Amino acid sequence: MRDRDAQPVGGIARRLATILTSRGIDPAAQLTDPVEPIPALQAAQARIPARYQAAVADHPAVAAWVREVAQAGRPGIAGAPGIAQGRSLLIVGTTGTGKTYQAYGAIRSLLIAGVRLRWKATTAADLYAELRPRPGHDGERELMDLSRCPLLIVDDLGAAKNSEWTEEITMRLINRRYNEMLPTLITTNLGMADLRAHIGDRVASRLTEMSDKVILDGPDRRRALAAERRRTAATA
Ligand SMILES: Nc1ncnc2c1ncn2[C@@H]1O[C@H](COP(=O)(O)OP(=O)(O)OP(=O)(O)O)[C@@H](O)[C@H]1O
Ligand SMILES: [Mg+2]
Repeated sequence: MRDRDAQPVGGIARRLATILTSRGIDPAAQLTDPVEPIPALQAAQARIPARYQAAVADHPAVAAWVREVAQAGRPGIAGAPGIAQGRSLLIVGTTGTGKTYQAYGAIRSLLIAGVRLRWKATTAADLYAELRPRPGHDGERELMDLSRCPLLIVDDLGAAKNSEWTEEITMRLINRRYNEMLPTLITTNLGMADLRAHIGDRVASRLTEMSDKVILDGPDRRRALAAERRRTAATA
């Protein structure tokens, strides 16, 4: 999964830790679930898939990105900081390494940090299915909404079957978010060379400039969890 464009995660984490420390933020502070309920978090949970409802952005580079976005927030509803312009995060890793978990964990951690944010999440495959021209459906409006949404998760970029049309949709979405410097959480199973071949060079070029890259390596957590369950059952 490593490729020439990859930045070592430790490098990103160290760079962000330096920035955060210089701004008086403790980069090591945990963004764990609060004791007191947070209404915005409770409301968001309804839109977070069941599997990721307890997700925590526990990867150091993702946690550092959360803090940077939270810190850059401008005053929003009721004086709470809202999402402002910011860098995006490209989370790269093979199957089951925790990319979607980190993406939803980042949304939850921002809410736990008190940031009021409007967010949307889609997989690339759902995005193309949703935007396919069909009678009685305004795909242009949907694309505009996603393009302008303060924080967007695009999960599994490069996993859907591609065509000239999917390339154009991806380009229009990413180009608008690139131009407006809106933070986007993108996950992909592909290394940069494969991703470039899949989504086109112009999208890949924009992603490279707008995003910090986090590489999740390690085993498939799903298989590891299944093996753990089998071990526990065998010893019970
Ligand atoms: N940091 C973590 N702590 C605890 N559980 C985790 C963590 N990261 C991932 N998991 C769990 O591991 C499983 C796989 O994670 P996830 O679905 O995020 O993988 P993925 O990289 O998005 O996989 P795919 O490429 O197939 O979409 C899920 O059950 C998830 O809840
Ligand atoms: Mg996933």
